[in-house]
Amino acid sequence: MEPASHSFEELLDFTLKRMEAMKKEGVRWVSVNPDWLSPLEPANYHSPVQEREKSDSTSPSAPPTPRSREVPPLSGLQKPALKTGERKIDSSGPETANPTSSRNQLAAPKAKTKPLDLQKLSDQELNAGMDRLRAEALQCQKCPHLAESRRNVVFGVGNINADLMFVGEAPGMDEDLQGEPFVGKAGQLLTKIIEAMGLSREEVYIGNALKCRPDTPGQAYGNRKPTPDEIANCLPFIEKQVELIRPKALVALGASAVEALYGEKVYITRIRGQRRDYRGIPLMPTFHPSYLLRNSSHAVKRLVWEDMLEVMEILGMPISEKQQGYFKK
Ligand code: URA
Repeated sequence: MEPASHSFEELLDFTLKRMEAMKKEGVRWVSVNPDWLSPLEPANYHSPVQEREKSDSTSPSAPPTPRSREVPPLSGLQKPALKTGERKIDSSGPETANPTSSRNQLAAPKAKTKPLDLQKLSDQELNAGMDRLRAEALQCQKCPHLAESRRNVVFGVGNINADLMFVGEAPGMDEDLQGEPFVGKAGQLLTKIIEAMGLSREEVYIGNALKCRPDTPGQAYGNRKPTPDEIANCLPFIEKQVELIRPKALVALGASAVEALYGEKVYITRIRGQRRDYRGIPLMPTFHPSYLLRNSSHAVKRLVWEDMLEVMEILGMPISEKQQGYFKK
């Protein structure tokens, strides 16, 4: 019998369908050799035709990578040239990027690193600065496709004098409709987390790295991860918000928020809970609430809660025994 011959696209299509089916069956993780994923990362992907046409071997060799790692089904297989339709790309949980690889650096402009003057601004300076920034954001056209598709620019909400500021990824459908960050299901969970800390939404400030909902042409539902260019275009807004508010602590919700603020690729599973410094402000990276919605195990909730306990400590907030014990068995 003749061995079946399949084109690359057929094999990829088959793999995607199989993984979609596994995902429906509840499979959340599969072991994949990173060497197999590497060619599928957008920066590395060449169509089979391009691959054949590439006659020289000037591409840099891949950095050493672990022999195998766990990735969510589909997450390593996103690439722009496929015709398989739009898929939800989720950046709130474990990542697929290799943080040691230089090709994972985000597009310019570089994230700011200069330490901030953390002395709070006067109310007058703060209000004027925030009003100016909001006005600028509301008429921003730097991403014409997003300016075209958005219903609202989702600038930020809360206390501009806050000691605690949360940074998320980008508005979803609910946020786009209401013009306020974190009002959908993930937002309701974030509100609960804030309240469990003994605070209210009104006392903290909540913003996103991207102020417009990433468009999903042809789809009423679904989210996608912002592109590096979109993040780069929008970065000055969140940077300026931090510069104006000068919070005593920052919480970055999910990988995209960390990546935007630091201009580097990260695995959120590796860095969550590891307190960082953002221009002189302590920053706690933690899982995005939408990741918690999908992975509602006690253990994962406890991890996020431990991150919040540390943030409370940074802020010098009292922590009750009840709060200490949340999500402990
Ligand atoms: N997810 C985010 O990252 N931001 C929002 O505002 C809503 C959902």
